[in-house]
Amino acid sequence: MSIRIANGRVYYKGQFIESTVHIDNGLITSIGREFEKDHEETFDARGYLVLPGLIDVHSHLRDGALSYKEDFRSGTQSAIAGGFTTVLDMPNSVPPVNSVKRLVDRIKVAEDRGIFCDVGFYATPSAPEIVEGLVHAGAIGIKAYMAKTIEGTSYSTFDEISSLINACASSEIICSVHAEDPQHLTEFNGMTAKEHWSAHPPRAEIEAIKKIIHAAISSKGAVHVAHISTSQGLELVERAKALGVNITCEGTPHHSMLTTERIDGNENRYIVEPPIRSQSDTVSIRRGIKSGLISILATDHAPHSIEEKGGVHPPPGFPGFETAFAVFMKMVYEGDLSLETVVTGFSEAPSMRFGLGKTGKIEEGYEANITIFDPRKDWTVRSEDFLSKAKYSPFEGFRFKGKVYATFIRGRLGYLDENILDPPLGRVIKRNKIGV
Ligand code: NCD
Ligand code: ZN
Repeated sequence: MSIRIANGRVYYKGQFIESTVHIDNGLITSIGREFEKDHEETFDARGYLVLPGLIDVHSHLRDGALSYKEDFRSGTQSAIAGGFTTVLDMPNSVPPVNSVKRLVDRIKVAEDRGIFCDVGFYATPSAPEIVEGLVHAGAIGIKAYMAKTIEGTSYSTFDEISSLINACASSEIICSVHAEDPQHLTEFNGMTAKEHWSAHPPRAEIEAIKKIIHAAISSKGAVHVAHISTSQGLELVERAKALGVNITCEGTPHHSMLTTERIDGNENRYIVEPPIRSQSDTVSIRRGIKSGLISILATDHAPHSIEEKGGVHPPPGFPGFETAFAVFMKMVYEGDLSLETVVTGFSEAPSMRFGLGKTGKIEEGYEANITIFDPRKDWTVRSEDFLSKAKYSPFEGFRFKGKVYATFIRGRLGYLDENILDPPLGRVIKRNKIGV
């Protein structure tokens, strides 16, 4: 099957050019020349931005016992509606992905359910010794939750996190860490965002990042700080990078835009871990994204049911796929970030770092995963319209300029103008090799 995406503004080798992308058999065959080949369909992209399919390295697709929150179908439909063509699924499902068998089982559930974009799977090993087996079984990354004990396994002390990072280094797989040190957390028994953020102070993140950096220095392993949220945490990462430590970090829409000064701390829909921080932290996060210190953008799509969010112990997290790109585009329109930075943060940079093969670029020979963005469309976030099962959002009522119009998976349209097109076109992806 051949298709050409004609006359759009194509993100090609670091800049936007008016061009046509030719696709054959799911691969990009050429860019630039406006000609029509035999049997070629045309998608008219005049007036649209033609972007590499967006990649999200931090999402919780749930399913299994948590299918009432989200399942592989609803989650990946929500992903393609947000322009994502590859997402990496976090292992804190029920049951958790902490063994080879659980990983194999989860991959099977995803394949049976049908996925609308490509999905790679993290695992959170029951012990560092099984990292190698998880890698052979296809894990795309290893995830450590420093603040949680999962079925008796903890990665909170220096020795624990360091032995995991060592094992990841030996198996050449990246170790992503939720950096909150439980020694600096207090139990959250409240109901409001305000109570939650005092239970999760900045110090917890800062102390956790110190441990991660020390472990990374001694093992030379590749580590990735998930959803970084504090100025001081970022300063530590900056110093570590300057020393040559193999460390990256990711920035989320909410930690870049929402501040404790501007949100209503009595509302529980804002509860997330790590929490929303102060204005000065968001300024640092945006500056970090701009300078490249935060090279990867991620949604932390973490859906829960609306009843749980409004209940006595509201769980942290909210859906993010369908708002993430628009949130960062707002920062582009306001002059805080460049469009190029936002695009590469959601495509080339995560693909390279997580070894996702020929994805993340519009170039000859790459998979034809492409996101078509309409820069003119004005819209207002109404979570009841989300394809995610989680119908709430910290960005409820926000007015955005620009929306994803269409999403191509390997040259086939999966999403067009607010509609999901059957069949599910996604595949499970397995680890290629560690990135750079
Ligand atoms: C995540 C979830 O709900 O799974 N919640 C969150 O607030 N980010 C867990 C996590 O990523 O820590
Ligand atoms: Zn997390």
